[in-house]
Amino acid sequence: MKSNELREKYLEFFRQKGHTILQSASIFPENDPTVLFTTAGMHPLQPYFKGQPHPSGKRLTNSQKCIRTGDIEEVGDPTHLTFFEMLGNWSLGDYFKEDAIKWSLEFLTDPKWLGIDVDRLSVTVFAGDDEVPQDTESYEIWKSLGIPEARIYLLPREDNWWGLATGPCGPDTEMFFDTGKVPCSKTCRPGCHCGKYFEIWNDVFMSYNKLADGSFGKLAQHNVDTGMGIERTIAVLNGATTIHEIDTIQPINERIKRFAKINTEPTEEQRKSINIIADHIRSATFILGDDKGVSPSNLGQGYVLRRFIRGIIRQGNLLNIKQRFLPTLAEIVMSLYSDIYPELERNKNFIMINLTQEENKFSTTLKRGLKRLGKILDETGTLTGQDAFLLFTSFGFPLEMTLEIANEKNITIDTQAFQKEFTHHKDLSRKATSGTFKSGLSDHTEKTTRLHTATHLLQQALREVLGDHVEQKGSNITPERTRFDFTHSEKLLPAEIEKVEQLVNKKIKEGLAVKSEILTPKEAKASGALGFFEDKYQTNVSVYSIGSFSKEICTGPHVKNTKEIGTFTIQKQKNIGTGLMRIRAKIEP
Ligand code: SER
Repeated sequence: MKSNELREKYLEFFRQKGHTILQSASIFPENDPTVLFTTAGMHPLQPYFKGQPHPSGKRLTNSQKCIRTGDIEEVGDPTHLTFFEMLGNWSLGDYFKEDAIKWSLEFLTDPKWLGIDVDRLSVTVFAGDDEVPQDTESYEIWKSLGIPEARIYLLPREDNWWGLATGPCGPDTEMFFDTGKVPCSKTCRPGCHCGKYFEIWNDVFMSYNKLADGSFGKLAQHNVDTGMGIERTIAVLNGATTIHEIDTIQPINERIKRFAKINTEPTEEQRKSINIIADHIRSATFILGDDKGVSPSNLGQGYVLRRFIRGIIRQGNLLNIKQRFLPTLAEIVMSLYSDIYPELERNKNFIMINLTQEENKFSTTLKRGLKRLGKILDETGTLTGQDAFLLFTSFGFPLEMTLEIANEKNITIDTQAFQKEFTHHKDLSRKATSGTFKSGLSDHTEKTTRLHTATHLLQQALREVLGDHVEQKGSNITPERTRFDFTHSEKLLPAEIEKVEQLVNKKIKEGLAVKSEILTPKEAKASGALGFFEDKYQTNVSVYSIGSFSKEICTGPHVKNTKEIGTFTIQKQKNIGTGLMRIRAKIEP
C-alpha cells in the first residue's frame, strides 16, 4: 500500500462516519507559544475540546503535517523522522470510547479498508493510578469486539496517557501491529522497542484538563483525539524493515545516491547520512512551504530550520556531494506532496530562494569551519564552550552540529562550559520565540480574550480612520497587550491615533453584542467579513460580528459584549517593514 492510498482511505472511512475533512493546519501552532511546531493533529483543536464550537462541526478528520524534534539526534536510525503526517479523527463532545474503538478496529481489519489480520493486533489500555481510575470501559469494549484478553495490556501512565504540557488530555488506548518477530524476552510487550511490536494508532479519550500547576480538572465534554502516523503505518503494512524505505522517502534517497555517485549498496555510514538528508529536506521544505513560512535564522523556528538545512549540507559533504543539491531534493518533496498540501506549490519561490541562499552561505563556511575545528582539536584535544560559540558565530555551525561532530570523533568535550553557552542560547531562543509567535493568542485567559475583541475593534477603527487599505498582517496578544500588524505605509499622526482610540472606546461604551455564526468562506466574504488568513481553505469558517461595526473570520474566543473590555489605549507604533505598521495597545479596567 502507498501513502496516498492510506491517506485517502482513512479520510474516506471517517467521512462515511459523518466527519468533515479539514485541510492540515499550519505547521506553526497558532495560539500556543510554548512549542515551535505543530506536533499532532489535535494541536490546533485544543480550544474545541474545551467546548468552543468548531465551525466544521463535532466530527472532524484530517491529515496533519507535523514536526517533532525531540528525537532529532536519533534521526538516521531505522525508525526516527522529524517530519511526519498524522492522520486523525476527532469527536468534540460527540461520540466517545465505544464508537472510537469500534471504528478503529473496523478500519484496521475490514478487507474493504486496511484488511490487517486481527490476530496481528495487540492493544494497550490505561491501568489507572492514584489520580485517574483504570480505563475498564475501553478494556471491556476491546474484549467485546473479540480481542483476546491475552492481547489487551494494561499499562501505566507513561505508556497510556496523552496530552500536551497543559490542557486537554486523558487516558489512551494504543493499537500495535505484531511483526511476527520472536519476542526479545519474557517481558516483551507492546511498547517494547525490540522491533516486534509497532504502534500504529492511538485513541485518546480527552475528558481531563491539565492545569499549569500540574493538577487535573475535568473538561465539560468528552472528546476523542486519535492519531495514526502515515510513515510508520505504511512501513509496517509493507513489511519494510526501516521507515526510510517507504514510497514518500525512497525517491529522495535515490536522488541523494545519484548526487553522491553511490551505485552499490551504501555502507552503514552512508546510509545514515542519506537518511538524515532525506528526513531534514522533508522538514525544511514543509517549514518553508507553509503559508506562514519562516526563513532560516538564529532563533526559534528559524534556528531549527537552519539546523535542518546545515545538517543536510554537512551530511552531503560527508557523502562527497560536490554540487548544490538542496533545491533539487526539495522539488522531489514537493512533487510527492503538492496535491495534498497545495501550499507547497504556492510557496515554491520562497522555498527555492531560501534553500539556495542558505546553501550558498553555509557551503562556503562549512569547509573553513571544519578545518578550524580540526585545528582546535589537534591543538587542545577538546572543545570548550567558547570554541563552540566561535564556530557558531564565525562559521555558522549550529551548536548541536559541533556537539555531533565531537561525539562522532569521540572527543571529550568541556560539557559544562559548552552547556552554559548552549543553555544561554536556548533561553534566548525561547524568549525570542515566545515574543514572536506568529499570530494569535498566547492563552485564553479573560484578559487576553478582552484584548482579542479589542483588536477586532482596532482593525475596524483603523480602516475607518485611515482607509480600507488597512489589512491585518498578524497579531500577537498576551494578557498584557495586543500587538497588531497591518498594511499602511507611514506612521499615524497624533490626531489619527487619537481618533482611532476614541472610536474603539466609543464602541466599547456602546455595549455592542459579539456574535458568531458559521458560514462557508464564500458566504463569509459576501457578507463583508474580513479575513486574510488560511481559514479560507476550510469548508466552513466562523465569523465574529461586533454589533454592525466589525465582522471578521476568526476562531475566537471573544467577550460577549464590548462593555466587558475596559478602556483601550494605544501605547506605541512602529514601522516594521515596507508598507507595514505595528501598533501596541493595552486595556485597563
Ligand atoms: N494526540 C495523540 C498522539 O499524538 C493522538 O492523536 O498520539
